[in-house]
Amino acid sequence: MPAIHGLNHPLAQDKITRLRDRDTSVTDFRRLVKELAIMLAIECTRDLPCVDYTVQTPLREAVGKRIAPTPVLVPVLRAGLGMVEGMLQVITEAEIGHIGLYRDHDTLTPVEYYINTPKGLSERRVIVLDPMLATGGSAAAAVDAIKARGARDVCLAAIIAAPEGIAKMQRLHPDVAIYAVAVDERLDEHGYILPGLGDAGDRIFGTL
Ligand code: PRP
Ligand code: URA
Repeated sequence: MPAIHGLNHPLAQDKITRLRDRDTSVTDFRRLVKELAIMLAIECTRDLPCVDYTVQTPLREAVGKRIAPTPVLVPVLRAGLGMVEGMLQVITEAEIGHIGLYRDHDTLTPVEYYINTPKGLSERRVIVLDPMLATGGSAAAAVDAIKARGARDVCLAAIIAAPEGIAKMQRLHPDVAIYAVAVDERLDEHGYILPGLGDAGDRIFGTL
């Protein structure tokens, strides 16, 4: 079973409440997604592999740690792009892949239209970014594609997850830990998360 890691922090709860508000502007929505991505970045890197590293302080030698190998971020287009800037504020040296998926409006199944990832995925933590885990079809397809390119250490950073999407990921990718700010109630008949925040891509890019 993958672990579901919630972000039960007052700052995160305040930000997600503002994010859900239909009166939140596009500018504020983007900023809140970025701020929540910063908090998710801290959560999903708690167990990141490190190597011992020695530096000289102005006074003497200090033995510490450096993150190695470099993690990889893979935003799911479009909405996952909104999380990249916040993630990079914390995981500054991350390399970035992209996967383009959209949900077919009738079947709700994901359609892949683009993929490009850095080399060496098999040795590195790959963090898939998508603010919404709804049916789980997009996240599962993204992880399928990344694993097909060699990734073995994969996690998913989301802002809102639905129980249906979590169940699908548990079934198809039991090794992938899910980090989410909130787990909502359920999906509606169109596959939207309730209460959710609406269409994340439209709200990030102003295409309402
Ligand atoms: C949204 C969202 C996820 C997907 C989640 O993308 O960003 O990728 O839906 O739904 P699922 O769990 O049921 O697959 P959408 O297909 O609307 O594309 P967009 O980001 O380009 O707007
Ligand atoms: N994608 C979104 O952007 N929002 C939802 O509620 C479900 C899928």
